[in-house]
Order: sequence, then C-alpha cells, then structure tokens
Amino acid sequence: MSKKATVNGNFKDIINTVKFLTERKKFIDSAEAVLPTRTDDFGVNRVAGSIHPKEQRLVISRIEEHGEIAKSYYFESKAAPLAYFKAGQYLTFRLEIGNSVVTRSYSIASSPAAALKGEYQITVKRISDGFVSDYILDNWSVGDEVTAYAPEGNLTYCYLRDAENIVAVAGGSGITPFLSLARAIAEGDEDCSLTLLYGCRTSDEILFRAELDSLAEKSDKIKVIYVLSHSDEEGYEKGFVGADVISKYAPEGDYSIFVCGPGGLYKYLEAELPKLEKEKKYIRFEVFSSGKKKDEAREYSITVINRGEEAVIKADSNETVLCALERAGIEVPARCHTGECGFCRSKLVSGKVYIPEGEDKRRIADVQLGFIHPCCCYPESDLVIRIN
Ligand code: FES
Repeated sequence: MSKKATVNGNFKDIINTVKFLTERKKFIDSAEAVLPTRTDDFGVNRVAGSIHPKEQRLVISRIEEHGEIAKSYYFESKAAPLAYFKAGQYLTFRLEIGNSVVTRSYSIASSPAAALKGEYQITVKRISDGFVSDYILDNWSVGDEVTAYAPEGNLTYCYLRDAENIVAVAGGSGITPFLSLARAIAEGDEDCSLTLLYGCRTSDEILFRAELDSLAEKSDKIKVIYVLSHSDEEGYEKGFVGADVISKYAPEGDYSIFVCGPGGLYKYLEAELPKLEKEKKYIRFEVFSSGKKKDEAREYSITVINRGEEAVIKADSNETVLCALERAGIEVPARCHTGECGFCRSKLVSGKVYIPEGEDKRRIADVQLGFIHPCCCYPESDLVIRIN
C-alpha cells in the first residue's frame, strides 16, 4: 500500500468513526427506554437480516444471450429488497436437479447500485462437462423463481488492505466480478483505478466488449486490454496474461493484482507472478477448481455420517467429494466451491483425500484435527466422513 493510501485510509477511518459514534449517541439518547419483546424488533437485527438474509427468493426478470457461449440472467426479488454487496462478490444458488440438491456460485456482474434499484445480474458460460451450468442454460426461463443465499466473497477492493490501483487478470467468465468493479468505479461507488487484462482464446469469446470499451472511454480510472491466446489479431495482445503483460500495462507505483478465472490460469500465474517480486498481500485469487489430473480414475466408496444416519455412496477419484455427495442426493451446506468459505467443512473420520496445490484454504487447526473442505478435495481411498 502506498504512503498516500495509508494516510488517506487512516484519515477516512477517523472521520467515519467519529461520525458513526456521534450518530449512535444521538440515536441511543432519543430511543425509548423500553426493550422490544422480540429479537426481530431490534433495529440491528433487521439491518443484519437484510444484509445477510438466510436465503433470497429471486425471479428471473430477463435473459440476455451472448452468442452461443453464455447467457446473462437478471433477477429481481418479489418480497424483500435484494441484499446489498460489494463489487467482486458472488451469489450461491441452490438447485434441485433430478435427485440431487446442488449449490453453485456465480460472481455478480451488475453493480452494487443496481442491487439498490432491485436488480442482480449473473452470467453463465457453457463449459464442457458443466453439469449445473448446462442445466441452468437449458432450463432457466423468464419468470422462474430460484433460491440464492446472501452475497459473499473476498475478491473486493478494500482501501485499508489493497493498493489503490488494481490490476485485474480475468480468464473467460472470470470477467464478471471485474465488470461489476468497473461499473462501480464508473458510478463513483469505488475509489480505486482498474487496469483490466482480459484473457480469452479468440476475440469471439470476449464477453461485454462494448460495455467494457465504453466504461474505459468514460472513466480515466478504467483501462481494458484484451489478450488472445489462440489467435493473432490486430489490436490485441497475443499470448497469455503473464508477468510481462502485467508489467507492460501496470500503473506506476503500487498496485494489487486480483485474479479470477479457471484453475489453469492459477497454475500459469503461480509460476509467473513471483517474477514481479510483489508482496503476497498484494495478490488475491479467486479460481474455479483446477480439477484433479485425469490419469488415474478409480471408484471408491464414501461412508457418510449425517446427523447420526449412515449412507454409503460411490465416488470417482476425478470428482470432488462434494460432487459425489451432491450426485448421491445428499445436501451439504456449501457456498464458494473454492475452499474459502468453510461452509462445507466436514470431518474426515478415515481415508485419504487429495487436495490440488493452492486449493487448501483450511485453518491450521482444521488440518491438525482432520477436517476437510469436500468442495476441493478428491478421494484417494475409501472414505468415512461426517458432515453437518
Ligand atoms: S463450499 Fe466453501 S469451503 Fe467448501
């Protein structure tokens, strides 16, 4: 973080804290000296409930097609106002597909200001073997009601933690959290600059091209560079977004690097980013699971202990333990699917699992006590696990 950002950040903090304390005292002094009888009547609980609702019932208000490759879904809420979020966060949807109950997370592409006006947008890209994304693309229609949980996620700009210049590296549909950030910057809701390095295989695969160009034209805080890995076209960088491309376009002075995209991007950048010699705190990742190598597919059994009941299910060594559970119709609390949120935390009673490099986000105590995050580990033997 630059000196300027630290001084500004501390100063803003002091002003905001004094303002908050003064308003709180005024509010307390003017309150009635009678306690509400129900906890729901406490103002703080009402605010907390609206920011972090247990779940939200959303209605699909419109669908926008992006050629053959993706669709954007727009949602409104029939009842309560939509929960607010920070640009970069995601929504987790709960779906019932056949006998399976599954959850999947999608970054919110719309801006926080749009949520205040009653709208969320997510974008779903068609991927090979995409069980849930294919289901959504083939089945969701305007007027359908769906269930989502409160927005979550840490790929957000925080002036106390991050440099005020963000270099964002997006791969494929990993563009959506940065579209939200660009919109928030243009609307004056985020006070950082954004240099967006958007990697796609060909120019046909670029999502939101017109809007990204228009945002960059309107705001001098937004710069967009397209990088094509599989085609050599004029006006584009050629290759992958690595250390050289980042150095070429990064602003002068300090900058944070935010990365969102598939596991392959993580693997590539893992080797590239050390060349930039940046402190770890300036690098933030949100990656979709890289998946286990497909070279040793085997079938194992998982004995699942769930609230005192036991069930034995089959699991493939190339699917996550969470996928095996969901496929078998066992509902597991899960949100991020990247190992970060801890919602799916379960006890590994016996057996061995494989966790791809970089995807083990467990607390040290959990590692020592034998807890796992089923969303990012793969069976390497028969397992016994306790969930919930
Ligand atoms: S779903 Fe978040 S850690 Fe598993």
